[in-house]
Amino acid sequence: MRDFKVDHNQYIKEGTDVRFSPESLARILILISRYPEGKQKAALLPILHMAQEELGGYLSVDVMDYVADLLKIQPVEVYEVATFYTQFLLGKKGKYLIEVCRTAPCAICGGEKISGYLQEKLGIKSGETTADGLFTIKEVECLGACGYAPAMQINMKFYEKLTEEKIDGIIDDLSKRGDDLKQTGSKWADELF
Ligand code: FES
Repeated sequence: MRDFKVDHNQYIKEGTDVRFSPESLARILILISRYPEGKQKAALLPILHMAQEELGGYLSVDVMDYVADLLKIQPVEVYEVATFYTQFLLGKKGKYLIEVCRTAPCAICGGEKISGYLQEKLGIKSGETTADGLFTIKEVECLGACGYAPAMQINMKFYEKLTEEKIDGIIDDLSKRGDDLKQTGSKWADELF
């Protein structure tokens, strides 16, 4: 059988060194060991979440290649998963990542109007970041808060039953804050071990 081992060193570019912390790496190796030899790709999704949280906030090509090397799979197998799920970011994001639900239940309850209002207020489209680096908007599929539609998530916090007035208050509040809503540590690592 062909050996698909990828040498990560060939992907390290000048000035970059993509690596998990020793603690995270130890956890990842335990996670991989839960699957039979040859089936280690099954650990890809949680590892990508951890990578996004720990290695810069998005999945760069270097990060995806590193994950491929860890799992002994082809980089393209990581790219196709990372580009399929809206939970993964492929570029730098603002301090506040606003994920606006675009799925039917939210759309029926005014989600499209809310998303349009938000984009107009911030002067950016979905997938873009404000010039000050503060806000990124991303339209996503169901956030699991359909009963409280229309809904959005900013970093790790949910906002529900949105109205234009609520959007005004949320954006104004975040614009003034010095801290951010991101929790410390890896949510995914804590859930898995
Ligand atoms: S459809 Fe919007 S949260 Fe489920």
